[in-house]
Amino acid sequence: MDAYLAIVSKREVRRYRAEPLPEDVLTRILEAGRATGSSRNRQPWRFILVTERARLNALSTCVSRPSNLLASAAAIVIALTSPEAAFDGGRAAQNMMLAAWALGVGSCPNTPTDATDVRRLLALPDDVTVATILSMGRPAPGERRPPRAARPEAVLARIDRRPLAEVAFRETYGDGAARA
Ligand SMILES: Cc1cc2nc3c(=O)[nH]c(=O)nc-3n(C[C@H](O)[C@H](O)[C@H](O)COP(=O)(O)O)c2cc1C
Repeated sequence: MDAYLAIVSKREVRRYRAEPLPEDVLTRILEAGRATGSSRNRQPWRFILVTERARLNALSTCVSRPSNLLASAAAIVIALTSPEAAFDGGRAAQNMMLAAWALGVGSCPNTPTDATDVRRLLALPDDVTVATILSMGRPAPGERRPPRAARPEAVLARIDRRPLAEVAFRETYGDGAARA
């Protein structure tokens, strides 16, 4: 899939097929996280892949939408080794979700509501924090899925986002759209 189309078409998927994800697909997604750039190349992340059903179910009690994890084939927990690494963690999360999307895998970030239980369930050391939990799986029937062939312009024309002129400026803040 074209990188630009993957980026503009990526929507969160919260309902998944039950089938497990192949190991090579999971590895490619994790490698996309590992390849992410970070401040001073510190790579302040650890990715915990969870595919055991019992652990996914237990993790579901730690997020605001348990159904996301109850239905997921896998989860990747992004743990950070520095409290100042939120931006880096966000980049790694998006890279993994985009790689997944391009491989036909839907995903959604889940903000933990109970980090203590996440720590216990994953045996996290004291010096790491949980950034987010990515739920993943092949999109369930009727769910949004990566377009096989679409024009990015057509995708952009119907997305649920603020108009470009409201969020992008040229030269100074608030000064018209960035579009030339
Ligand atoms: C930092 C962050 C935290 C989020 N937390 C959750 C969450 O806890 N549960 C959830 O279902 N979606 C969560 N989302 C997904 C957002 O709701 C989603 O990105 C937004 O509504 C746009 O969705 P769309 O791309 O499908 O239009 C989160 C997204 C971000 C960026």
